[in-house]
Amino acid sequence: MTAFPEERFPSHGGPTGPALFGDRAFVDRPLTMRGVAEADLPELVRVDEEAFPDDPYPYFVLRQLFDLHGDRLLVLDDGERLHGYVLFVTTQDGYRSWIVSLGVTRDQRGRGLGRRLMLEVLRRLRAESVREVRLTVEPANAAAIMLYRSLGFSSDEGVRKDYFGAGEDRLIMTLGL
Ligand SMILES: CC(C)(COP(=O)(O)OP(=O)(O)OC[C@H]1O[C@@H](n2cnc3c(N)ncnc32)[C@H](O)[C@@H]1OP(=O)(O)O)[C@@H](O)C(=O)NCCC(=O)NCCS
Repeated sequence: MTAFPEERFPSHGGPTGPALFGDRAFVDRPLTMRGVAEADLPELVRVDEEAFPDDPYPYFVLRQLFDLHGDRLLVLDDGERLHGYVLFVTTQDGYRSWIVSLGVTRDQRGRGLGRRLMLEVLRRLRAESVREVRLTVEPANAAAIMLYRSLGFSSDEGVRKDYFGAGEDRLIMTLGL
């Protein structure tokens, strides 16, 4: 049982027949944005590994994030596979929410899915009267930074050196709601 109502939308334009991306063929199917379920965990792990090949969450971390914050995790589902997810968690005082993770599979990037996930998160947070959203991003991750800037995030705090440990600097981005 999910706390999230389903929202259906077609994947972006493009042919409806099979398309080839790399060595993989797939059919463009409409994507559903929905809350995550326990049965999604293996797929969620796969999507996370694809989105963050250098530093994916270990299975046990995603398992525990699901146990703790499963109602704050949205996935994009084509009926057979997941193609993206976002995890956002709000501090206990309800003031601030963090985008903990956002990922879209390689074959679906540049089709507006990351933006759709983020817009839905922001819509929900506004409805909950959360005041501020924060996230961290690798300073060289131009695609993500462009997405967040286009949604109104600013980076006045700049880059925090060694934020995730030695050599893992991160840009802190903030949006007031
Ligand atoms: C970042 C990410 C989530 C974006 O998802 P996406 O579905 O490809 O993004 P969208 O198609 O919704 O694009 C939204 C905006 O992002 C920016 N963007 C996306 N891809 C881009 C690229 N290759 N270069 C520059 N800007 C890009 C653009 O501003 C774009 O808006 P536009 O289409 O109006 O120009 C995706 O690239 C991803 O999963 N990357 C790997 C994981 C990651 O880095 N996550 C973020 C961690 S902070």
